[in-house]
Amino acid sequence: MKVAIRYQSRGGNVRAMAEAIARGTGVDAVSIDSPKAKIKEPVDLLFIGGALYKFQLDPAFKEYLKDLPEDLISEAVVFGSSMLTRRPILMIQDVLKEKGIKINKQAVWSRNHPNDDLLGVIEYFAKNELTRDRSLDGLPPYMVFKRSQEIKAQREAEAAAKAAAEAEVEAQSAADDRSEEDAED
Ligand SMILES: Cc1cc2nc3c(=O)[nH]c(=O)nc-3n(C[C@H](O)[C@H](O)[C@H](O)COP(=O)(O)O)c2cc1C
Repeated sequence: MKVAIRYQSRGGNVRAMAEAIARGTGVDAVSIDSPKAKIKEPVDLLFIGGALYKFQLDPAFKEYLKDLPEDLISEAVVFGSSMLTRRPILMIQDVLKEKGIKINKQAVWSRNHPNDDLLGVIEYFAKNELTRDRSLDGLPPYMVFKRSQEIKAQREAEAAAKAAAEAEVEAQSAADDRSEEDAED
């Protein structure tokens, strides 16, 4: 899965969140000020975050959001920080929604600077978001359970088939070794 992280931060609080996401995903966190900020290739999951200043998103960040190439972005996870409320999350999501970019239901908010506990949770969340089975998205709980059981059974059958194939290859090569030894005799 192709992942990208973009963030806007004046004081470093959102940057700390972006860096936790980077640790979780193994992808660089890129500031919107960086020359590498523009998204030019398809991205399956974009982590995008910013903060609130005087009740508003940073103007340059707002422009960046508006200019995002919606045709290259399959889904976005929003993160953000402010002093009082989760408004930066909603404001970022509103711009993305207007552009028709699919928004992941999960979002991460921190009051000012995230503490170490929250950074750990963010890192875990970002990692988990990548390994989650997306075929389960949007299903009611009993269907998720049923599908999970099917997927588990399918994975077990695949693992058993792989082990059987490996055993067969091993038996075959042992038989080949024996017949080579017989030929040498
Ligand atoms: C100049 C300034 C204005 C701010 N205005 C607001 C605000 O209107 N509402 C709010 O909830 N937080 C406000 N904050 C708090 C920031 O959103 C918060 O500290 C955030 O973590 C900053 O992120 P950053 O360090 O990545 O820039 C303001 C902070 C600054 C420095």
